[in-house]
This record gives sequence, structure tokens and C-alpha cells, in this order.
Amino acid sequence: MWSPYILGKVPKSRSISTVEGLGDRLRFVAFAERQAALAFKEAASRFTDASCELREAWLWVSKEEEKHERWLLARMEELSQRVEACPVALDLYLSFERCHSAHEFALYMSNAEERGRVAGEKFGEILKERDPVTAKIFAQIAAEEREHVAMVAKFF
Ligand SMILES: [Fe+2]
Ligand SMILES: [Fe+2]
Repeated sequence: MWSPYILGKVPKSRSISTVEGLGDRLRFVAFAERQAALAFKEAASRFTDASCELREAWLWVSKEEEKHERWLLARMEELSQRVEACPVALDLYLSFERCHSAHEFALYMSNAEERGRVAGEKFGEILKERDPVTAKIFAQIAAEEREHVAMVAKFF
């Protein structure tokens, strides 16, 4: 389910001024997108208290998170950074599993997406000069996370 990622104890990210350090951040965010995609997809069948429209919205967001993951993995490949080089942790997905209602899940994910968006914008800024291609990917993802949060917020 998590291939090609390797689960384990996450080492400290290397310096962002190295390509390996950039790879660490790309891997971390790509795996967050993978966990979010799965969480949204499962939520659509698991939370029977959600309306049909909300479940459809979650399925749409799930596809969007898959797309974000693809962008990030493609960029890692361009930078010759291997996904399997460092382990990742399942924190986000495990917290999702602890949610008991549609509302609780929606709130939890909105917070996670908002944190991801703020971090992504920051990365985009830091990398703007040095690696405009990666910076643009982070900025685009951040902009789309804003849409996800707004989309789900409509239901509550
Ligand atoms: Fe995303
Ligand atoms: Fe999102």
C-alpha cells in the first residue's frame, strides 16, 4: 500500500542547501500527499454520516492529492533523489484513523492541509532563486491546498 516508500524512524532532514536536503523535503511532502489521498478516499466510504456531496468532494480531493504526489515524485526523479533512500512515518494516516466522524475528520484534515500549505509557501519562497522549478511546484500545491480547505469548509 505504501510502496515505494519505506516506513521507519525518520532521520533528521539534511540541509536545505544540498540537493539531498531538498530530496528529503520532497519525500516528506510526497508521502504526506500519499497519506492524505488514501485518507480522503477511505473517508468517503467510512464516514456514513457524511452527505453524498461531501463524499464526492473527498473523492475529488483524493485525486488531487494523488496528482500532487506525482508532481513531487517526478521532481525527485529529475533531481536524482531516491524515494527509498530514507524512511518515512505514517503519522498523518494514523491520526486520520483515530477520527470518528465526518466532522472530526474534516476538521483534522483541514488543519493538516493548512499547515502543509503554510510550509509549502515558505519552501517556495526559500527556493525561488536557487531552484525555481521546485519552488513553482510547492507554490502551486500550496494554492491548491487552499482550494481543498475551502471546498470542504462549505459543508460545515
Ligand atoms: Fe495536496
Ligand atoms: Fe489537499
